[in-house]
Amino acid sequence: MELEQIQEYVKKQLSEKRYYHSMCVMERSAELAEKYGADIKIAEKIGIAHDVAKEMTEEEKLQYVKENNIEIDNTEKLNTGLLHAKIGKSIAIKQFGFTENMGQAIADHTTGNKDMDIYSKILFIADRTSKDRDFEDLEYLNQLVNKNIDEAVLYILDKKIELQIKKRASIHVNGIIARNYILDLINIK
Ligand SMILES: [Fe+2]
Ligand SMILES: [Fe+2]
Repeated sequence: MELEQIQEYVKKQLSEKRYYHSMCVMERSAELAEKYGADIKIAEKIGIAHDVAKEMTEEEKLQYVKENNIEIDNTEKLNTGLLHAKIGKSIAIKQFGFTENMGQAIADHTTGNKDMDIYSKILFIADRTSKDRDFEDLEYLNQLVNKNIDEAVLYILDKKIELQIKKRASIHVNGIIARNYILDLINIK
């Protein structure tokens, strides 16, 4: 699907606010793709599509994973909010014609994962630094983005994991796997 068609589809699935967020992530993804020498169109498509499943009800999500044979783990069963990432990947591949790798960026956007490619990293950062976001550490994070993409991903992972600990909430194992993976990348360099 072309970008405009994906936009139309996504717009129908989301509230105005969430669609605006998706557009902002798309814009930010394009900026980051340009900065890091990745394909801008691909990054934009991933950005606009990433939260396509975000507003499905818990029931709809559980039904979708069942019907589409998507495996889910215990953390996802208990926190079905996480599922919008895996379902988003499935919708993007089936409806928008995404490749496996493009879909994987969506699957990984909430927790991170091992083997994050450039598009996974771009989406992960864009979702946190798009213009509709106002995290207090945005300026610091954007400095990291300019210096080193992996440092920026590590910083976001740390913040997400810290928040889970503060909330006394469970941490999805992929967050830990992602952190170890990125830390290795940084230390090898
Ligand atoms: Fe999301
Ligand atoms: Fe998002």
